[in-house]
Amino acid sequence: AERILSGVQPTGSLHLGNYLGAIRQWVDFQNKEQTDEEGNVVPVENFFCVVDLHAITMPHDPMELQESTLSSAALYLAAGIDPVKSKVFIQSHVPAHSELTWLLNCITPMNWLERMIQFKEKSKKQGESVGVGLLDYPVLMAADIILYQSTKVPVGEDQRQHLEITRDIVRRFNDLFCKGNKYKKRCKAAGVASRPVFIEPNPIIMKEGARVMSLTDGTNKMSKSDANDNSRINVLDPPETIRNKIKRCKTDDIQGIEWDNPERPEAKNLLNIYSAVQPDRTKEDIIEEVKDLTWGDFKPLLADAIINHLEPIQNRYHEIREDKDRLNEILKEGADAANTVAKQTLFNTKVAMGFVTPD
Ligand code: TYM
Repeated sequence: AERILSGVQPTGSLHLGNYLGAIRQWVDFQNKEQTDEEGNVVPVENFFCVVDLHAITMPHDPMELQESTLSSAALYLAAGIDPVKSKVFIQSHVPAHSELTWLLNCITPMNWLERMIQFKEKSKKQGESVGVGLLDYPVLMAADIILYQSTKVPVGEDQRQHLEITRDIVRRFNDLFCKGNKYKKRCKAAGVASRPVFIEPNPIIMKEGARVMSLTDGTNKMSKSDANDNSRINVLDPPETIRNKIKRCKTDDIQGIEWDNPERPEAKNLLNIYSAVQPDRTKEDIIEEVKDLTWGDFKPLLADAIINHLEPIQNRYHEIREDKDRLNEILKEGADAANTVAKQTLFNTKVAMGFVTPD
C-alpha cells in the first residue's frame, strides 16, 4: 500500500507557488489510481495536514495563526482535496507529532540541522533571538512523514533537502534500534512485528511549476516571507489585485517572448505560470500564441488566465468557510484517522527504543 502525506504551513495566505508546487499535485495523486510494477492497483491512503506547529518557528501573531490554519484547511478542500478519499487534519490535533519529534531529536546529530539551507537563511534574518524550534524544524517535519509510514511526499523543489534529512533519520533510527535478537524479544513482549519501524519516504517533485518564482525577481522563489505582497499571487487575491500585480511585475526589455532562455528568468517564470494555469494546453501551442507579443500585450492574457483558473477555487473556498460545522467535522474525522495511525507508529518507536510501554 502507498501512504501519501504532505502539508503547508499556515503562515499568511497561500500563494501560487504553494498551489502549483504542492496542493495541485496532491489533488492529482488523490484522483489517480496507483499501480505496482505488475500493473496491479495498490490501495492508497492520503493524509494532508496543516502544519501549524511549524508555523510558530518564526515569530507569529496568535489571531493570525488561527485564521490562517482554518483558511489553509478550507483551501485544500476548495482546491479539490476530497475528504472521502483523503484525510485532512491540523498537525497540533495529533499530539504524536510533538512526541515523536522529541524522540528523534535525541538521535539527530546537531550538525545535520546546522547545515540546512532554510535554517541558515531564516536564522540570519532573526539574529540573536532565533528560537531552538527553527533549528529543530526539519526533525518535526521528519516526524510528520514518519508517523504515517509515508511512502511518497509530494512537495515543491525547495523541500528536497528536508526529505533527504528525513531519509537519513529513518536509516539511523532503524540501524540503531531495529536489529538483533534483543530487538526481537522486545517486540515479542510488546506484541508488535519485529521489522524496521520506519519507512524511507520518496519525494515527489513536479517538474512544471516545481519552482514558482517571485514576480519582482525571477531568480528568487515566490515566498510567503517576502515583505512585498506584489512579489506573489495569493490564491485568494481578488481579480483586480491579480491584474495589478501582473501589470507591475518585473519583465525585461528584449523583443518577443521566449521560454527557455537562461538569460531571461522572468520570461521563463511568467510562461511557466501561464502554462500551469492552463493545464490542457501544450507548450508548443502556447509558444505559438505568445512568441511575437510585447509584454504589454501578454500581461493581460496572463492575468486573465490566472483569474479564470483561480475563480472556481475561490468560490468553493467561500462556501466552505461559511459552513463552519462541516469544516470542523472534516477536520475532526481527519484528526481521528491520523491519531489512530500515528499512535501505532509512536508505540512501535517506543518499543524499539526500550521504553516501558503501558499494557
Ligand atoms: P511551505 O509551507 O513553505 O510550502 C508548502 C508547499 O509549497 C511548496 N512551495 C513552492 N512550490 C513551488 N514554488 C514555490 N515558490 C513554492 N513555495 C512553496 C513547498 O515546496 C511545499 O511543498 N516544510 C514544509 C511544510 C511541511 C511538510 C511536512 C511538507 C511540514 N511537514 C511534511 C511535506 C511533508 C514547508 O515549509 O512548506
